Amino acid sequence: MSPPHLTVTVEQIKAVITDAASSSSHLLHILHALQHRFLHIPHTAIREVASHLGLPIGQVESVVEFYSFFYQTPRGRYNILFSNCTSCGYKAGAVDLMHMLSHRLGVVAGKTRADGLVSLDNTSCIGMCDHGAALLVNGIPIAPLDADKIMRIADLVEAEVPVVNWPAEWLRVDDNIRISGLLLSNQFAAGDGMRAMLARGIDATLADITQSGLRGRGGAGFSTGMKWKFCREAQSDTHYVVCNADEGEPGTFKDRVLLHSDADAVFEGMTVCAFIIGAKRGFLYLRGEYRYLLPQLQAVLAHRRELGLLGSGILGKAGLKFDPEFNFDIEIIVGAGAYICGEESALLESMEGKRGVPRNRPPFPVTHGYLGQPTVINNVETFVAAAHIALRGSPWFRAAGTEKSSGSKILSVSGDCASPGIYEYPFGVSIQQVLDDCGAKNVQAVQIGGPSGSLINPAKFNRKLGFEDLPTGGSFMVFGQGRDLLEIIGNFAQFFAHESCGFCTPCRVGTVLLKNGVDKIASGHGTRYDLDEMKRMGALIKRRSHCGLGQTAANPILDCFQQFPHVFEQRLVHSKFEPYFDLDGSLEEARQITHRDDAAAHLK
Ligand SMILES: Cc1cc2nc3c(=O)[nH]c(=O)nc-3n(C[C@H](O)[C@H](O)[C@H](O)COP(=O)(O)O)c2cc1C
Ligand code: SF4
Repeated sequence: MSPPHLTVTVEQIKAVITDAASSSSHLLHILHALQHRFLHIPHTAIREVASHLGLPIGQVESVVEFYSFFYQTPRGRYNILFSNCTSCGYKAGAVDLMHMLSHRLGVVAGKTRADGLVSLDNTSCIGMCDHGAALLVNGIPIAPLDADKIMRIADLVEAEVPVVNWPAEWLRVDDNIRISGLLLSNQFAAGDGMRAMLARGIDATLADITQSGLRGRGGAGFSTGMKWKFCREAQSDTHYVVCNADEGEPGTFKDRVLLHSDADAVFEGMTVCAFIIGAKRGFLYLRGEYRYLLPQLQAVLAHRRELGLLGSGILGKAGLKFDPEFNFDIEIIVGAGAYICGEESALLESMEGKRGVPRNRPPFPVTHGYLGQPTVINNVETFVAAAHIALRGSPWFRAAGTEKSSGSKILSVSGDCASPGIYEYPFGVSIQQVLDDCGAKNVQAVQIGGPSGSLINPAKFNRKLGFEDLPTGGSFMVFGQGRDLLEIIGNFAQFFAHESCGFCTPCRVGTVLLKNGVDKIASGHGTRYDLDEMKRMGALIKRRSHCGLGQTAANPILDCFQQFPHVFEQRLVHSKFEPYFDLDGSLEEARQITHRDDAAAHLK
């Protein structure tokens, strides 16, 4: 039951739905509006939304249950979520900042305070890794955190100061661009790429994108030119362009920076793609954690409409001769805290107002994408690169990088180094070079490509970033000698267990078993039998999972077995088998409460 201050009437619910639907009738948009207004999604609202959108109640209900940022019981007026990431997590050194705030505000993690003022929890990486410890308060990021700031946050919350009135410097998120390369150092004015494309011709531009060798920057590395060609050739009157800005891989924040500093190039790349494939509608799927960027992105879109670069009669206003019948516009859909929605087919499901559960593939989105129609889905950085190639041509792009990895890669560098931030290099750069540039000393390990990528030991720091050797979506996490690798691997295992969508058993169950295995070894109860079980389980999840999440979830553990075997070995107990559950240990709290420690209070 709602607390008295949150009694919600059907009329209020209807008013919020009508108001939200006047700007977008997307299910996630309406649910965000309800969550914002009532601090949860009341059950009555589920019925009203279903009726308003003509959807089954069960579908709306299952969507509310699926996404982390929708709640069925009220959150506090200050909803505080600490990032649970090894780079922007809630620990500053040995200090547990979440525990500190919890103590100071008198609210238990995972709960809402009885007076409804504040709720506290942790959430998967919020993409502030270059800033250090970070949290979201009512969706607004605050970073970096330290003990002093935590105390001040507690005071501001108790005094009920609106977050927009908190110190302005706290609310600013710097880009931290440290090295600019091919894309970041070349200026791009709105419309430049489109004018160049129209002057050169649409077919020639597609040929240029293909010849440039541009491959997707979101991880899989598929040829962008080929993807666009397949979509263009797919039989249909309706094609779509989607920009994947769901950036949820822990340690990755380069799309956040591109959306902030280079949004025109992102939208330009999408528009170039729309011309080539014949799309009239485009979508940018923005991760819920980056909601704070929404007003700025909307302003860039509005400006582009004013310039005649979006909307109907496109380019007419920009003074270029073009078919006035042609029109294209872009809508932004904001996600709600689900890493799996970055997987392209789960993203399509989410766009269609469903749970983000990956589809069977084939068919692929280029032929059967959004609403079953041919759809191009590309990463933010891919669209930026495509816009530059449309303007500057393929030889310019090919001149950088390597044979199979042309152009540059934008890296999100975080962790134990002097200058975390954004580094753009030609492909082929070595790990050691990046470490030297970001001021990382005494490095124990580097995680390339986030938890789903590769863990690298110092003997391999001469390896090169690129599709030939080490492909990466851009996350580059540095771990110094002082770090406990087992704790890091445990954090990654926890991430996958939490983010598994639950659709297939190997991933749903296997990720939890792996997490339990790491925890058991970390607690000093693991045996060689447990290690062997984890290896077997890791191989099984990799082979049998339905999508990329499960197929890569065991990577950190399997890599650690191979590259850093001592990390596990040194914590093993030398017995054949130890149970997962320490029965005697579990009675410790009861012994303390009853002040007993005699033999009868123990279990052998
Ligand atoms: C679990 C999972 C999460 C993913 N998250 C993202 C993401 O946040 N951003 C992204 O561009 N691609 C992500 N991908 C890859 C997409 O499925 C897809 O390959 C990509 O968006 C295609 O764009 P590209 O060709 O430009 O790389 C993810 C894949 C998986 C399996
Ligand atoms: S592998 Fe995991 S995330 Fe992917 S469909 Fe199966 S349960 Fe869902």
